[in-house]
Amino acid sequence: MSQIAPQNIVILISGGGSNMAAIVKAAEQGGWQEKYGARIAAVISNKADAKGLVFAREHGIATAVVDHKAYASREEFDAELARVIDGFDPKLVVLAGFMRILTPGFVDRYLGRMVNIHPSLLPAFPGLHTHQRAIDYGCKFAGVTVHRVTAELDHGEFLDQAVVPVLPDDTADSLAARVLTQEHLIYPRAVERLLAAGR
Ligand code: GRF
Repeated sequence: MSQIAPQNIVILISGGGSNMAAIVKAAEQGGWQEKYGARIAAVISNKADAKGLVFAREHGIATAVVDHKAYASREEFDAELARVIDGFDPKLVVLAGFMRILTPGFVDRYLGRMVNIHPSLLPAFPGLHTHQRAIDYGCKFAGVTVHRVTAELDHGEFLDQAVVPVLPDDTADSLAARVLTQEHLIYPRAVERLLAAGR
């Protein structure tokens, strides 16, 4: 049997973790271990009560919490986060609803192997409240972008995008739900393409 170099994936979350769950299911159902030597090595949260941690544990995935409130500065938090991430020897660091601004040093450390999903059609609407901003702007279409992480917030090479219509009676919540459905399709797909390329 040929040996495939291991491709460990570390996923960072802050909340529900539905994108993380979509990636975990894609890995399980798509045989990523066999095809790409890939496994979800850990799910790490900055919040101990992040619901996604329960899902990860139920799927036999190692979890860790690095609580940002326990650190005096972003640099100290990021240093500890990097220490924990590196313990899982990551080929890919996947940000999935991880709601922290990252320091330049942290971004540099994982440059080329860290990806993010942002719920807008970048370069439109980087930052927070994307759905309300798209509605307020009168956008007829909204969407989601998977991109590599670089020092500039919500920038970096686009790996995939999906588009949804903005409907006349949309609220931020209804639009977010429509976009999230697409997130769950394109994020696993983008990660799988990186794994196939890195095999
Ligand atoms: C998603 O909309 C993601 O794009 C954004 O935060 C949300 C997280 O959702 N960055 P979940 O935690 O993956 O359910």
